[in-house]
Parts: sequence; C-alpha cells; structure tokens
Amino acid sequence: MGDWTTIDFFNDELLVEDPYPYFDELRSQCPVLALPHLGVVAVTGYEELHEVYRDTDSFSSCNSVVGPFATFPVPLEGDDVSEVVTLYRDQLPMHEHMVTMDPPDHTRERALLMRLITPKRLKENEAFMWRLADEQLDTFVAKGRCEFISAYAQPFAMLVVADLLGVPESDHDTFRQFFGMSRKPGRVGAGDEHEQGENALAGLDDWFARYIEDRRREPRQDVLTQLAIANYPDGTTPPVTAVVRTATFLFAAGQETTARLLAAALKHLAEHPDLQDELREHKERIPNFIEEALRIESPVKADFRLAKRTTTVGDVEIKAGTPVMMLNGAANRDPRRFECPHEFKIDRENALNHIAFGRGAHSCPGGPLARAEGRVSLERILDRTRDIRLSEDHHGPRADRRFAYENTWILRGLTNLHLEFTPVA
Ligand code: HEM
Repeated sequence: MGDWTTIDFFNDELLVEDPYPYFDELRSQCPVLALPHLGVVAVTGYEELHEVYRDTDSFSSCNSVVGPFATFPVPLEGDDVSEVVTLYRDQLPMHEHMVTMDPPDHTRERALLMRLITPKRLKENEAFMWRLADEQLDTFVAKGRCEFISAYAQPFAMLVVADLLGVPESDHDTFRQFFGMSRKPGRVGAGDEHEQGENALAGLDDWFARYIEDRRREPRQDVLTQLAIANYPDGTTPPVTAVVRTATFLFAAGQETTARLLAAALKHLAEHPDLQDELREHKERIPNFIEEALRIESPVKADFRLAKRTTTVGDVEIKAGTPVMMLNGAANRDPRRFECPHEFKIDRENALNHIAFGRGAHSCPGGPLARAEGRVSLERILDRTRDIRLSEDHHGPRADRRFAYENTWILRGLTNLHLEFTPVA
C-alpha cells in the first residue's frame, strides 16, 4: 500500500483490487477525514456514516452518485450553500432520479415507488425468481462450468427487476440485449472525461415511455398499468417522464449491485467447500450468509452527500459545500462495530447491522428484493450442483488466486467469476 496521503481514490487503480487496507488506514487516521483530492471528506466509521445518512437537514443528496464531479456554475461559499444547491441542482448529473433528490421532491417520488414495491408484488416477484433461477441454471448447468456473472447473476438480477415492473416475458429477450450493450459509469482513472455525467439510462427511458403511454391509453390488468396510473400522495398524476424514471432507475440501482452480491457469495462458497454442504443441510442459515456477504463485500463502494451548511460529524467540522464520501464497505468493516471485521463469519450475530443498503430517507427500497434474490439463487444453485470450485485456469491455484474487480469507484465487485461444479442429475 502506498502513502495514504497521496493516493487518489478516483484515479488510483491500486485500490480497485483491494480497497480495504486503504479504508482501514483512513479510519485509523480519523473516521471522518479530509482527503488530498477534489476537496472530499471520507467517512469510514460506522457511527459517523449513520450520522451523515440520517442528517438530511445538513446534507443534500444532489451529488449522491457522482460525488465531487457534481460541480456548480458558481462557487460554494459561506456557511450555508442551500440556496445555490436549490438554484442549480437541475444542472447536475442524474438530477432527474430520486437518488439525487431532497425533500419534498424526494418524498413524493419515493412514495410513488413504494406504491409499486408492495408486499403483494414482492411475493409475486419471488415466485418468478424461483422459476427464473431454474431457467437460468438450465442454460449452463449440464456443462459443469460457467462464467457466473454473465451466465447467471446479471441476467437474473435484470429480469427480476423487469418482472417487478411487469415487463411482459415476451420482451425479456429484448431487455437482455439492451443491457448487453450498456456502459458502466464511474470508471477509475477516467480523469476529466467523466462519462458518469451522462445519463446512461436514456435509451431505457424511451422503452418505458412507450409502455407507460400505452397503458395510460389502454389500461390492462397488469403491473405496468398500476405503475402508469399510480398517483402522487396528494392525488395528482405524475408526468410520464417521472414514472418512466422511477421505473428505469430501478435497473440502474438493482442490477449490477445484486449481480455483484451474488458473485461475492459464490466466490466465498467456492473457496469453502465445507460451507456448501452446511448450507445445503441448513438452508435456514442462508439469509445470514447473504447478510455477511453484503457486509464484507458491500456492492456500493462509495455514496455521496454535499454539506449544505457547515456542520460536524463525529466532532469533525465539515464546511458547507464539501462533498462527503460515504464508504459503506469501510463502515461495514469498522472494528468498533464488527469484531474481526475482515473475517467472513456465517454465524456473525450482528451481520444484519451492516449498512450496505444505506440508511435513512434514501435507504435502499430494493433491499428485500436483493435479499430474496440471494436466498433463492443460493438455494437453487446448491440444490442443482455439487462441489462448486473456482476454475484454476482463470483464477489460478489456491495458493495464488487472481481476481479482477470492476474498475469503478462507485461499485465493488468481481468482473468475472469462473466456476466449475458437478451437476446434480
Ligand atoms: C445488493 C444489492 C443492492 C445494494 C447493495 C444497494 C444499495 C443501495 C444504497 C446504498 C442505496 C442508498 C443510496 C443513497 O442513500 O444515496 C440504494 C438506493 C436505492 N436502491 Fe438499492 N441496492 C441494491 C439493490 C437494489 C435493488 C434490487 C433495487 C430495486 C429493484 C434497488 C433500488 C434502489 C433505489 C430505487 C434507490 C434509491 C432510493 C432513494 O433515493 O430513495 N436497489 N441502494
């Protein structure tokens, strides 16, 4: 590990493979620490991260996705920059999605989304997951090997969101193709050409606009119609664009994150054959295994807030206008909260306390979905295979493993995971 004072989190590829020693280093300096680049303050402590997540009066979500690259046309000066944020927020990347909104706009858009993620819908969606898991496994299981992320995790996570939204199964293949072409934001080392400024979801927006307009014209007995005719809590009808963005953002938020969670879980299982048998025999232990996977390899690596006014977090002053980088994966390995934090313990008692889904007003509404995806996938994969192992051709021998991780500062996750296994007849 190089000198922590010079490492550039946004451009140093050194951190891509294993950011955790760096996170520990930052936390040992101070859980709320000013970094040498881009004026960012990094939060690596568990309690401190909670404080930021919960304080929507002092912190805006306007930069939640692109952090320090959300720049304003005027300087952020003084002890309260709320007005500048209000005036210019619609010039920031991703401003049209709820994840960057603050109350009251956020409250309204979130209410619209929560009308969609009802307990009944989640139940129906889980029934689809069981079927989809088997269909997806059918495509490769007999071969006894796969690249797990492209063969299973990505299509599975994408189609679960498609089903949640009521996309007809006849269109699922088109969605597969669409996503095969999508780009990844937040590339480490992108320098100034920040592609994260673009709206990578624009193409998908067109697709959904067609669905929503169609259902508004001709309501049917389907989920897309429920989405199309849902009203805001005050009874007003949202514009088509607002509904569309709610729908399409779910793909952005729920697809790669869940795929990386599944990959982290399978990697751990492949390295620990004894665990495979234990989970086969005790399926009731799978949920805690998933929580521990979320804790130890939190798929959202960095989430951001902008200090609207000068405030303190964990006794450290944060000046108004500062981009605050919340490192979920660091907080989830804070030794003050999690004993032996770098160890994966499937029976960890407080695994569920992890902060991988964030906290507060923006906390992940897809958490129940992601958890169910993990549980269903693991159950079906463990039922249909024996002796899951890493491909030594791709990942090297046990004593010298090689893994490639997504080259982004937003997400933490494997780029590929080559598995071998014995199919169960
Ligand atoms: C392992 C999988 C997932 C992880 C680790 C994850 C993580 C997160 C985190 C940390 C946030 C908070 C962002 C913030 O406060 O700035 C968030 C928000 C969000 N997530 Fe997830 N997520 C996952 C899966 C999903 C799924 C499956 C969906 C939906 C299908 C989803 C939909 C959303 C949405 C819509 C938001 C924005 C909520 C808001 O701004 O109020 N996520 N997620």
